[in-house]
Amino acid sequence: MKEKVRMAVIGASGYGCGHIRLLTMMDDVEVAAVCDLYEDRVETALKLCEDKYRGAVRVDGYTDYRRLLERRDIDGVIIATSWETHGYIAIAAMESGKYAAVECGGAASLDECWQIVRAYERTGNHCMFLENCCYGREEMTLLRMIKDGVFGELVHAEGAYQHDLREKVTFGSENRQYRYTNYMYRNAEFYPAHELGPIQKYLGINRGNRMLTLTSTASKARGLNEYIVRRKGADHPDAKRAVTQGDVVTTVIKCAHGETIVLTHDCTLPHPYSRRGRVQGTRGIWTEENKSIYIEGLSPTHDAWEPFSKYMDDPEYEHPLWTWYRGSGIDGGGMSYLVLRAFIESIRDRKAPPLDAYDGACLMAITPLSENSIAMGGAPQAIPDFTDGKWINREPSPKSRYNLDEIDLSLF
Ligand SMILES: NC(=O)c1ccc[n+]([C@@H]2O[C@H](COP(=O)([O-])OP(=O)(O)OC[C@H]3O[C@@H](n4cnc5c(N)ncnc54)[C@H](O)[C@@H]3O)[C@@H](O)[C@H]2O)c1
Repeated sequence: MKEKVRMAVIGASGYGCGHIRLLTMMDDVEVAAVCDLYEDRVETALKLCEDKYRGAVRVDGYTDYRRLLERRDIDGVIIATSWETHGYIAIAAMESGKYAAVECGGAASLDECWQIVRAYERTGNHCMFLENCCYGREEMTLLRMIKDGVFGELVHAEGAYQHDLREKVTFGSENRQYRYTNYMYRNAEFYPAHELGPIQKYLGINRGNRMLTLTSTASKARGLNEYIVRRKGADHPDAKRAVTQGDVVTTVIKCAHGETIVLTHDCTLPHPYSRRGRVQGTRGIWTEENKSIYIEGLSPTHDAWEPFSKYMDDPEYEHPLWTWYRGSGIDGGGMSYLVLRAFIESIRDRKAPPLDAYDGACLMAITPLSENSIAMGGAPQAIPDFTDGKWINREPSPKSRYNLDEIDLSLF
């Protein structure tokens, strides 16, 4: 077992710097290198490390990720860059002998997803998809309840990314942020992972189950243009451009065992943040919208909702990782800390991470598949089996407190 895990972070804007802050809190981790296309962002990231390490660890800055990847003393790389750069940087990281972790975001093409899978299979270096919402307290309580059979057999799940990003997208060019161009050129379910990541684990996707097909439909695009006119003026060139991304994109997925999943992408209309989750099984239902649950035979009143918080606070249902985290005194923002620890411990123990290359490829593939479906009037798209049939008999990922396929109470 390694004493210190040596890490690099590529992409040093808001989220990359968030990772650097968390990594520099961890005693068994050293941030050895940071990288961004912009020198001022490299400087900011180096300063963050310096404030923490006070010269005790040498940290190097790069503007070219290829130079960083030539280093032999780095074990793992976190890629917090723009969506369209995740794939090729992750592949180069695995090829250079390092474990890679990619931030959330959809792929640009299906081929990109296949290349990630093949790079992992060729090199044996893992690629983790950093879906932090899989480690949310609510999601982990649900995971435990589902794996314990409280919901009976699962039939249907829903989730959404409802996040008013109009300001971020509108001022994307000014703020050197990648989203603007995507909204102006593409029409797709851009960001399925926050809701679909946990659902994949509830349904055992890639381990006894798989997603077979999807259809996507986009509404008209009005919200962003209206906002741009309001904020930049009707004569601004951005106000005269046609927005391609529909305001509400609805995707329906069908799984091998008959379950259905509905995803909603809704980022250009006014809406308080919500992942609008719903899980339905033969014994009961959970819904995020009113934070409620109803389990037949367990809920106190027949046919009446009860608060889900009751279960989150009950040690019989709360996931033991969260019981541990809440008692640990760690100030790491919960799920963001836990997903990073899952990656660090998989590097340390040279084991597969809980969200591996196959899980990541499935999540990233939803974006180009939805794009094709929308372009073809909602035509069904086959979701590739990135495991090449291994999903039928795949074992759960290696034993760990961060495992999302099964919960081993003896590890806590
Ligand atoms: N998990 C979450 O909850 C969460 C939250 C926010 C953002 N994110 C994800 O994190 C990633 C970064 O988000 P952000 O808001 O910081 O984006 P951002 O656009 O502000 O930053 C991306 C940075 O990557 C850099 N970059 C792009 N290509 C590069 C390359 N080839 N080499 C080096 N650097 C490169 C850019 O210069 C930029 O500074 C995105 O994938 C986003 O979806 C995840």
